Amino acid sequence: MKITWHGHACFELAGSRRVLIDPFITGNPLAKVKPEELSPEVLLITHGHEDHLGDAVAIAKRAKPKIAVIHEIAVFLQEQGIEAEGMNIYGSVELDGVRVTMVPALHSSSHAGRYMGSACGFVVELDGVRVYHAGDTGIFSDMRLIGELFSPDVMLVPMGDRYTMSPRIAAKAVELVSPKVAIPMHYATFPILADSAEEFKRLVEELGIEVVVLEPGESYEL
Ligand code: NI
Ligand code: MN
Repeated sequence: MKITWHGHACFELAGSRRVLIDPFITGNPLAKVKPEELSPEVLLITHGHEDHLGDAVAIAKRAKPKIAVIHEIAVFLQEQGIEAEGMNIYGSVELDGVRVTMVPALHSSSHAGRYMGSACGFVVELDGVRVYHAGDTGIFSDMRLIGELFSPDVMLVPMGDRYTMSPRIAAKAVELVSPKVAIPMHYATFPILADSAEEFKRLVEELGIEVVVLEPGESYEL
């Protein structure tokens, strides 16, 4: 499986299926792709904030992926004629052979003043590899439970501070989940976020957990 980072919280998981998460491309200064170049079979959105919902509506209308989102976002998409599977925290769905479980995130969620349900993270199982995309979140002790329930191979970790965790707190979150590999995200997009993953990498490596720092557009294969 190949994990490609498009900057911020946008990742593409590619194996027997292409899964796209949080497609914030337009307005994302780190993104090296155009939204038209992304044609996922499965699309996941962690919450309603613009830097996550991003180009989801346009991509959904063109590429017609299967979509799993929290109930309130499913209703929002359905109102625009987009087919979406509603779900909620700790529920699972199987989309085109991809197993998706929605897990909690400690964050808010709205879009243009509209309540969009809870923010969430996802555990995605594709070709036997489990990836935990934490969404936007603060730390919470049930991250240990997510680790125990799913034994993620890879954790995608927001560590840019301010709207999510600082590098120090994010490293503690990785310790709770205990994945094989941690990939930092949600940093360096805008000047108000941490500009590098250096401190996060050092702190997580001290725990004996591998850190893969991707450049935007770069992929990690496992
Ligand atoms: Ni957010
Ligand atoms: Mn965000």
